[in-house]
Amino acid sequence: MSKQTPMMQQYFRIKEEHEDAFLFFRLGDFYELFYDDAVLAARVLEITLTKRGKGDDAAPMCGVPYHSAESYITRLVEQGYKIAICEQTEDPATAKGVVKRDVVRVITPGTVMEGKAIQAEENQYILSLSIGIAQMGYARTDLSTGETEVGVTDRGDHEMHRLLHMDGLKEIVVDEAAGSLLPVVGMTMSIEMKEEIPSHMDHLYDGNEPLIRKAFGRLLNYLTHTQKRSLQHMQPAVTHIHQQHMQMDVHTRKNLEIIASLRERTKSGSLYGLLDFTKTAMGSRRLRKWIEQPLYNQSQIEARIQMVSVFLDNPIERRTLQEALQHVYDLERLAGKVAYGNVNARELVQLRKSLQQVPGIRALLTELGDAANEYGKNIEECAPLEVLLREAFVDEPPISIKEAGMIRAGYNEQLDTYREATENGKTWLSDLEKTERERTGIKTLKVGYNRVFGFYLEVSKGSAHLVPEQYERRQTLTNAERFATNELKAMESKILNAEDQMETLEYELFLQIREEVQTFIPNIQQAAKMISEIDVLQSFSVASEEKRFTKPLFSESGELRLERSRHPVVEETIPVGDYVPNDIHLDGERDMLLITGPNMAGKSTYMRQVAMISVMAQIGCYVPADLAVLPLFDRIFTRIGAADDLASGQSTFMVEMVETEYALQQASANSLVLLDEIGRGTSTYDGMALAQAIIEYIHEKNRCKTLFSTHYHELTILEEQLGRLKNVHVRAEEEDGNVIFLHKVEDGKADRSYGIHVAKLANLPNQVIDRAEHLLQELEQTELKPTPESKVHEQLVLFEETEPESTKKQDKADQRSKSEIEQEVQHLDVLHLSPIQALEKIYEWQRKINDSERG
Ligand SMILES: Nc1ncnc2c1ncn2[C@@H]1O[C@H](COP(=O)(O)OP(=O)(O)OP(=O)(O)O)[C@@H](O)[C@H]1O
Ligand SMILES: [Mg+2]
Repeated sequence: MSKQTPMMQQYFRIKEEHEDAFLFFRLGDFYELFYDDAVLAARVLEITLTKRGKGDDAAPMCGVPYHSAESYITRLVEQGYKIAICEQTEDPATAKGVVKRDVVRVITPGTVMEGKAIQAEENQYILSLSIGIAQMGYARTDLSTGETEVGVTDRGDHEMHRLLHMDGLKEIVVDEAAGSLLPVVGMTMSIEMKEEIPSHMDHLYDGNEPLIRKAFGRLLNYLTHTQKRSLQHMQPAVTHIHQQHMQMDVHTRKNLEIIASLRERTKSGSLYGLLDFTKTAMGSRRLRKWIEQPLYNQSQIEARIQMVSVFLDNPIERRTLQEALQHVYDLERLAGKVAYGNVNARELVQLRKSLQQVPGIRALLTELGDAANEYGKNIEECAPLEVLLREAFVDEPPISIKEAGMIRAGYNEQLDTYREATENGKTWLSDLEKTERERTGIKTLKVGYNRVFGFYLEVSKGSAHLVPEQYERRQTLTNAERFATNELKAMESKILNAEDQMETLEYELFLQIREEVQTFIPNIQQAAKMISEIDVLQSFSVASEEKRFTKPLFSESGELRLERSRHPVVEETIPVGDYVPNDIHLDGERDMLLITGPNMAGKSTYMRQVAMISVMAQIGCYVPADLAVLPLFDRIFTRIGAADDLASGQSTFMVEMVETEYALQQASANSLVLLDEIGRGTSTYDGMALAQAIIEYIHEKNRCKTLFSTHYHELTILEEQLGRLKNVHVRAEEEDGNVIFLHKVEDGKADRSYGIHVAKLANLPNQVIDRAEHLLQELEQTELKPTPESKVHEQLVLFEETEPESTKKQDKADQRSKSEIEQEVQHLDVLHLSPIQALEKIYEWQRKINDSERG
């Protein structure tokens, strides 16, 4: 490249420091992008790529107007890109040589503070890691609210997975070494090498765990470097203590549909959607956080439950509270905007309106007794702030902070005199209209204003002959003429001057007030925290009342007893009253249930119901049952057999086994493990053998509460060998060749399976059903000798020596060499076959039969 213009030299100098970001380079009214940035941005944003300069040195370039830049920035950020905003830092009019420019902020997916990119109900997180030998430290911040959680975890894959797949995570900050190591795709990765907590931020973490200090320090340095402004809304980091929370891995959360439904990935259809009767956006975010991290600390749980009871017992006060909450805006994010300096007067009025609710909320909580008062007394009143905002701003100020009309009369004397001047001027003008009409006799004479010509007197063409001499013509329209007079011009400059001064002064006052509001940030945040918790608790009480939930009790002994319990989400999806409630009882003598029953009977629902109820209890909510006695669970694992996990579309048998291994390794006697048709993803014998081995292992080693559903009826024999394992089944009945699901869980094993009946329900062609029934009869005659029980006995014995078993299988297959088509029918996954696919299969078989007969 030959010699560059001084401006391009400046560009390269700045770009060098922001290799990983689009450099939005301010040129007049545009942000311009050059070279690779331009080429990529033109493609991503679908804007025109042009050139700057001539010939070989021409630089690819594209640009966006600065006033509409936000939408372009949002689009880039949403796709995971970073943007460095480079502004002119001196006035081009007075600058000598190239105008000075500097990057004023780097907007990244994890730090975007405005626009559509940030959702009211969702937190957006930026995560920083510091990886040690056996452990790693992490710090996770939502910059819009200033909240940070820090912690240390094992360095294991699962912990890593849990952190990296957190909901709402938008960006990860690590050092260079870790940057190349982490198994992350589709996530913005940023490098920050400095890991010492900046001294002026030292108060944000009072612990001394070195890995946390490093991770948090890295994050703070990264935020400082990219945001280049006050971060005074950052709240002290809260250390996450694993021992106080129930652990749930990503798969479990997904499978239980805690935050989002499995299929549509929406909030509705999830526990979160079911319980969300919050009135504020921050309440909704808090609820989500609570659901993601249930507690494992009885007194904390009971404190929440007690508040739910208080709200249930005091419906009138609850209603008053809800009304007050309705007027509370997003205090957490408002505090963030105040610190960030991008708050406007309208938002400060929202802040004031929210603060006005505080005394009422406090008083109400005091009335509701000691437990409620604990919350009430911790809500900061911020009374002086409320007074300041009330006196300073009008009720409906303009959005732009550069526009006059924000500040209330009486707040500033100088401003009032300017206002008076313009008011007087306006009265003078309307008086002028009257006097001039009288003086000239022109009835249609009007006083008006436009930007180009200023104030004028307008006279219709018809009355033009009446216009006095001293009127100066300013503008001619089709039907009218516009004039000015010396008097009018003098008043015009007075009014416009006063308006200018007013705008300038209002802006100055606004900045002063904003600065004062900044000193209240910690108080606002404290109020926000308490109010959002109260909001969640009242939300629990509403859900509990509407859906007839019961207060859970906790057992010391590890006993779990649910009477007439329901799955709260499934219950919502079927007609009222159709849900069949079920009991469950587990204790030290009986801690494993082997659940059998036909497809569609309700096995999975029953298992999830137990987990769901445990989660609900441990977040401090009432639960869907007539009686609920529960142990506190330290962990919940759920594993869904590969064949059943179609929704995620990614699960394979290998994943299933890896996940199960994790459960076996981690589950303690205080854990709840749900294994739903584990082993289903492989051949029958392999699957059955694995399932049995897993059951035996958990029974002997983990001794956790376990629910295991299976289609392998042969496994029910295990009840005789494993003391604490009990068979239960979900009842179904046959009537006129059709299956009727009773959804009732009863002791003992299921007598048979109804796969073909279920296929019939799915409207598979009769031909297929009839053929399958025929084949089944044949199979039952040949295959099922020896009887299932005796086969399992064999297996129990032969389990450690799989060799003979597989040879035997081989023999059996040889004995009765089935035709290719028969084998296909046998292994056909009928349940997951669409009618069209079934027809195609039949067509294929027909062709094969015809071919073989011909050939
Ligand atoms: N207790 C119940 N009361 C009413 N309906 C129920 C109940 N339990 C389950 N159902 C209904 O039955 C459907 C199937 O339930 P579920 O998926 O739990 O069956 P499953 O036994 O696990 O079947 P599969 O063996 O095919 O996995 C549910 O979607 C729900 O509509
Ligand atoms: Mg199931």
